[in-house]
Amino acid sequence: MEVKNKIDIDMYRNRIKRVLITEEEIATAIEKAGKEISDSYDGNPILLVSILKGSFVFLADLCRKITVPCEVGFMCAKSYYNGTVSAGVVKITMDLEQDISNYHVIIVEDIIDTGRTLNDVVRLLKTRNPLSLKVVTLLDKPSRRKVEFNADMALFTIPDHFVIGYGLDCAEYYRSLPYIAEYDETK
Ligand code: IMP
Ligand code: MG
Repeated sequence: MEVKNKIDIDMYRNRIKRVLITEEEIATAIEKAGKEISDSYDGNPILLVSILKGSFVFLADLCRKITVPCEVGFMCAKSYYNGTVSAGVVKITMDLEQDISNYHVIIVEDIIDTGRTLNDVVRLLKTRNPLSLKVVTLLDKPSRRKVEFNADMALFTIPDHFVIGYGLDCAEYYRSLPYIAEYDETK
C-alpha cells in the first residue's frame, strides 16, 4: 500500500494565494441558481448529475436550494493533468446507475476549463436520450477553451488562474476549503 508522506502545513497554507470568491458570494449565487432551477423544472422529474470529484460540494449546496423534487446521480470523469495543465484526456471511470431516458438531466460541474470533459460527457449522455439536458457549472474559464462548449448556467466567470477549494483540488488537496482561492504555483 502506498504511504502518504506527512504534509508540510506551512507550505500547504502558503500555496493558498488569495481568496477569489468568498463563501458568502458562493452562497448567494447558489441560492439564485436553485431558485431558477426550481422555477423552470417545477413538477418534472429532475436528475442532477454530479461530475465527481470536483462538483460534490457544489452539488450538496445546490440541491438544498432546489425546492422541487429532484434526484441525484454521480459520474466520475477524470481529466488528466500534467501539474496544473490539462493533458486533454478524459475518461469515464464511474458511470450513472439511472436510466436517464426518464429524466430532465442537469449536469452539475465544478469548472469548465478547456471544455473537453463536458463536451465528452454531454455527447455520451445525449446518446441515452434524456427528456432534456442542461449544464450548470460553478466556475467558467472561457479564455482557456480548446473545444467550443458553453454551459446553460455559469455562476462565476473567472480569469485564467488555477483555482482550488469548494471541491476543486490540486493533487487531491484543498477540496475542503469553503471558498475558491487562487493557487500559488511558485511556492
Ligand atoms: P476541462 O475538461 O479542461 O474543461 O476540465 C475540467 C476539469 O478539470 C474540471 O472538472 C476540474 O476537475 C479540472 N480543472 C480545470 N481547471 C481547474 C482549476 O483551475 N482548478 C482545479 N481543477 C481544475
Ligand atoms: Mg471536475
